[in-house]
Amino acid sequence: MTAPADLITRLADRFGDRIITTGAAIPERYHHDWAGLPPAQPLALARPETTAEVSALLAFCHDARLPVVPQGGLTGISGAAHPDAGCLVLSLERMAAIEALDTEAGTLTAGAGLVLETAQRAAADAGLMLGIDIGARGSCQLGGVLATNAGGNNVIRYGMARDHVLGLEVVLADGTVIDGMNAMLKNNAGLDLKQLFIGSEGLLGVITRCVLRLHPAPSERATAFLGCAGGDAAVALLGAARQALGPMLSSFEVMWPSFFHTMAEGTGLGVPLDGRHGAYVIVEATGFGPGAAQGALETLFERAFEDGLVEDGILAGSLREERALWAVRESPAEYATVLGPIIPFDIGLPIARMAEAVTVLEAGIAARWPTARALSYGHIGDSNLHLVVNVPEAGANQPEDAVKAFVYGVTRDFGGTVSAEHGIGLIKRDYLGYSRSPAEIALMRRIKAALDPHAILNPGKSFAPDPEERQP
Ligand code: LAC
Ligand code: ZN
Repeated sequence: MTAPADLITRLADRFGDRIITTGAAIPERYHHDWAGLPPAQPLALARPETTAEVSALLAFCHDARLPVVPQGGLTGISGAAHPDAGCLVLSLERMAAIEALDTEAGTLTAGAGLVLETAQRAAADAGLMLGIDIGARGSCQLGGVLATNAGGNNVIRYGMARDHVLGLEVVLADGTVIDGMNAMLKNNAGLDLKQLFIGSEGLLGVITRCVLRLHPAPSERATAFLGCAGGDAAVALLGAARQALGPMLSSFEVMWPSFFHTMAEGTGLGVPLDGRHGAYVIVEATGFGPGAAQGALETLFERAFEDGLVEDGILAGSLREERALWAVRESPAEYATVLGPIIPFDIGLPIARMAEAVTVLEAGIAARWPTARALSYGHIGDSNLHLVVNVPEAGANQPEDAVKAFVYGVTRDFGGTVSAEHGIGLIKRDYLGYSRSPAEIALMRRIKAALDPHAILNPGKSFAPDPEERQP
């Protein structure tokens, strides 16, 4: 679909250059997100400041059948915010106000453009905490975090982004404003409509404001770095950690040697343990009593050592040591330097078969691409495995289709999901059917057709029908 030039002129005339930028004047940073797809210059960029302006813009695009790609901090790695040459990019970045912070109710009311880290700081300044935390915290914006239902390292304790939302304001494709800014923990009156938009990757409406739930800030945090004999022992340790730490368990991250040694050596970051192990685990506990988390974590370590689940380990004694224990786990930003171009995965697998699946995946990739590096790690406490593949001799032309077909085939055979936390976007579109039934996808599309009848929102992404299937 190509928009006539006079349409863009009408858009610019109607909304003015405070809101609209067109063509070559659009800064390059709006041409792509973090998915690594080829950049594209959109027809126009809109940066509204109010919900009424978002509504008017969407009504205009709905009437003109102009495709709209909503954008937040552009840190998504599945391509849901990636523009194309025929679209209007709708950036929510100027709607970044903290409107209210209610310390008694434990709620934060904010605009969709607020950067996550700013929201976290505001909560901390009030003696509370926002339980959403992801690596892109310094750039990602709340609207995108919610639209993608982002995960992160504390999901095991606080849940996905979805679990933090009390209320949402959303603008539908035709400009209708849905004011769902509920601030109560319980509101069981009819359908919980906000859940439709959380994780919908911009296909059903545009999130403009939100009410988030805050939690009491734990007064202490304890972190252990443990070496296990292998993936099976690490998974058994997860069960022991749940029992020993209960609700204090706030992270359970596993790194297989493929990830840990490749990234430790490639980045030159120090390693916390002397010997080599079959799996490396970071266990974090947070609590409220003096020494409660530290004591429970020490007890877990001692028992797991006696039971043979753990071969060696170290507990952080200071904030600096804590950061050092996380350093290699937090090194994925260095993939480009250490590995070059990568094919990334965020699959979900049943915990009981996690270790077996890693063996099958790494062996299968080695058999097909003998020189390949396949790095396994992830939020194993959430059934979420990250796998990152690089075939050195392929350079910029990584065998993406063949590697995806293999990895997603194994994922399906193991009863897993093609996306545990990063969403479908553009890059996993062909594999949605591996994890959702035809009836589920048909229902997603019926909801899409009801909310966005001209299919202007994020065409061609996730569960949207192919653009050529759209209604005229
Ligand atoms: C991580 C990101 C890639 O967990 O989801 O490192
Ligand atoms: Zn992750």
